[in-house]
Parts: sequence; C-alpha cells; structure tokens
Amino acid sequence: MPALVLLGAQWGDEGKGKATDLLGGSVDYVVRYQGGNNAGHTVVVGDQKYALHLLPSGILSPECTPVIGNGVVVDPAVLLSELSGLNERGVDTSKLLLSGNAHLITPYHTTVDKVTERFLGKRKIGTTGRGIGPTYADKINRVGIRVQDLYDESILTQKVEAALDFKNQILAKLYNRRAIDSAKIVDELLAYADQIKPFVADTTLILNNAIDEGKVVLFEGGQGTLLDVDHGTYPFVTSSNPTAGGACTGAGVGPTKINRVIGILKAYTTRVGAGPFPTELFDEDGEKLRTIGHERGVTTGRDRRCGWFDAVIARYATRVNGLTDFFLTKLDVLTGWEQIPVCVAYEIDGKRVEELPYSQSDFHHAKPVYEMLPGWTEDISKAKTFSDLPKNAQAYVKALEEMSGAPISAIGVGPGRTETIEINSFLS
Ligand code: GDP
Ligand code: IMO
Ligand code: MG
Repeated sequence: MPALVLLGAQWGDEGKGKATDLLGGSVDYVVRYQGGNNAGHTVVVGDQKYALHLLPSGILSPECTPVIGNGVVVDPAVLLSELSGLNERGVDTSKLLLSGNAHLITPYHTTVDKVTERFLGKRKIGTTGRGIGPTYADKINRVGIRVQDLYDESILTQKVEAALDFKNQILAKLYNRRAIDSAKIVDELLAYADQIKPFVADTTLILNNAIDEGKVVLFEGGQGTLLDVDHGTYPFVTSSNPTAGGACTGAGVGPTKINRVIGILKAYTTRVGAGPFPTELFDEDGEKLRTIGHERGVTTGRDRRCGWFDAVIARYATRVNGLTDFFLTKLDVLTGWEQIPVCVAYEIDGKRVEELPYSQSDFHHAKPVYEMLPGWTEDISKAKTFSDLPKNAQAYVKALEEMSGAPISAIGVGPGRTETIEINSFLS
C-alpha cells in the first residue's frame, strides 16, 4: 500500500490531524499538498495536546518524514515558530522536507487578505486572514515568490518589486492604505533564508523514489472537499484544491501512484466562515453539538457553525475524490440524543433531490430532508471494536455507510490516538 490520500469530506475540521497522526507510526512520509497555516489540526497524544497549522501531522511520529509539498503556501515566520514550539516540547523536527517550489506568504499577502475582507463588508468570505487567497492569486498571476527565491538575492529583489509595484497601487488608491516598502520585505525574507535552508529539497523526486521503493507515503489534506476552489461552495471556499487530485499536483505524484483515498467524515457537520450550509442548526441542538464537540476553531478561535449529518455531501465527496474508505470521527459526541436526524436528500423548489445540485442558487435554497435514526445513551468512548458499540450506534454507522457510498473503515470515539475503532486496516 505505497500511497494514500487522507482528506476532509465536508467543510474542514473533520479530525484529519488525529487520523493522520494515528497512521503516522506506520508510514514513511506524511505530505501536506495544499493550503497553508489556515489549517488547524489538533492532535492529542497521551496527555499532550498539539495544535498544528502548517506542518504535517506526521511530524509527531519519529519514524515518519514530514514533507511540505510544492502546492502548499508557506509563511516562513509561522514555519519557524511552529518548529521551535515543537522543539521546545521535545519533538524532533530535523527530518522535515520543504519543496523549493512552494510559494511564500509574505506580510503583504496577509495585509491584502485582511483589507479585501474588510472591503467586501457583509459579502466577506470569513477567511482566516492568513494571506492564503492573495498568495495563491499571485502564484496564478505568475508574480509569486517561491522558497527557492530566498537563495538568490537579486532575483528575490526583482520579484518582490514586481509584485509590489502593482499591489501598492491597489493598496494606496483603492484601499487607502500606506504602500509597502519592498526593501523591507526583502530584508525580512532574507533573514529567514538560512534557518529554512536545511529543509529545502526536491520533494517530488524524493516522494516518487520513495513510492517506487515501496515506502508508504500519506498525503494529508488541509480544509475539506466543500472548501475546494473547484468543487466546493464557491466563492465561500479556500483558494486551493483539497480534493484528491490536489495531492497529485501539490506533490508532483501521478494519479496512477495513488492506491487509496480516505475521506475523513464527522458524524455530524460543521463549518467555519460564511457560505451555504443546509443542515445548519440555530437551536439548542446546534449549541449542544458545539459544546459537547468543542467546536471552536483551532486557527481563529471562531465558534464553528454546527448541523446534522448530511449524506448528500458525503456522497458528493465520494464521487469527486474517488473515495475508497471513510474514517468516521466524533461519533461519541452524538451520545445522549433520543433520536438523531440525518439529511438523506434535499428539497429544492418542492422537488426531492438526491445529489448535490450543481447550481449555486439551488444549493442556497436546498432544504434538508431528514430521516430519524434512534440514538443511544451508553458511553462509547472505551469501545475498541465495532461490536462494543451499542446496537443503535452500530445502526447509525451502518446507515451512514450505506448513504455515503464508501465503507467506513475506522470510527473515532474520542480525541486521543487510541480512542479509535479500526474496522479495516488502511495499510493492508
Ligand atoms: P482537522 O482540522 O480536520 O485536523 O480537525 P480539527 O483538529 O480542527 O478539529 C477536530 C477536533 O475534534 C479536534 O479537537 C480533535 O482533537 C477532535 N477529535 C478528533 N476525532 C475525535 C473523535 O473521534 N471524538 C472526539 N470527541 N473528538 C475528536
Ligand atoms: P482545517 O485544515 C475549516 C475556511 C475559512 C473561510 C474559507 C476561506 O483545519 O480543516 P482562507 O483563509 O482559507 O482563505 O479562508 O475557508 N477555512 C477553514 N475552515 N477548517 C479549515 O482548515 C479551514 N481553512 C480555511 O473559515 O470560510
Ligand atoms: Mg481544523
């Protein structure tokens, strides 16, 4: 089983960090392929809790080589502070590899992210304000700064000047902000260069060789399927491709090399930021999910919007990612409800619709059609096998599996590494 992709099947925060960490001990490389420090992955190991943003969750497994691929956008200040934070806690980060082709988030990208949101007013996306969108925009506009530019001062200076010539016009004339001094930015970037240099590598070559040698490589998505810039709820999305194809472009590995694609799926649904969300709850149940599930953002501290499980979205994730398995997380959070509603289809303009509508207007009007499943009251956090679960919890999992279109191969019953029921091994 040389190459696997692990990604979010909903709007992010499904528990990808925990799932990656769980497999980390058995894999040789864990690779981030898109996004940046907009991600917030919580990993609980014993009594230690780690919040990772940019680094792959595999960094916590000593056997594993963590890789930041070419498709990631890297804020060098965040990279270095995350590394030193882990070093202070005794985590060895020396094996990290960073693609020289990854794009850098600079202070002007974060500035543009924040002022654009302010300018959009009530139409804002609710971004994390980490400069993600503007950095990807510069990449596509071919005025981005890459990691390798740090090692040629003259090229770096030219590129920063070229990017700021245009951006300063917009900042000053449109947003009424002070222009940014390019020499200052160059100095700041150069100050990071030496510290970052030991990690810079030809990650595409290394990963392809590793796969050819039969090593196990795990691609870890940030965000989730419905936040994908192509397949998500555009424009309320992030600016990269968390879906499975993104692993190929964001790491330089061909699709024929990928054996398994695992969708991380929360037993209910959450979303951070603006945009449509058919099963969102505004009542006590929503508040209860938020409280019991600790649904508060790891990156921005914002409350997450909460709602019931949506099988239409899960089916869509199976389709656009070619999912082979699901990892169902946070089943324990649903303990205590007498009945649990599950959205099995939508009603749009009086018609029942089984698949995610491709029209944004239809999706905005979609009303969930619920089926009620019986709940359970027993504590399930100690369950080790599927048969340890109460009958109604087993039936809930089986119903979700049937509706979602791929086997549920693992179930999370708590935040810790060991609070997991493994049904089919991901690595066999
Ligand atoms: P990610 O962004 O997909 O990595 O997810 P986050 O870390 O942002 O949010 C998931 C949260 O759920 C974290 O606080 C995890 O520790 C926690 N978590 C993950 N799996 C489970 C589970 O099965 N049960 C419970 N109760 N918590 C979980
Ligand atoms: P993880 O990896 C949940 C959301 C933001 C906003 C939109 C665009 O922890 O699942 P951006 O800063 O990326 O331009 O913001 O995407 N968003 C996330 N929501 N989990 C995440 O990451 C997210 N990363 C971005 O809230 O709505
Ligand atoms: Mg998160």
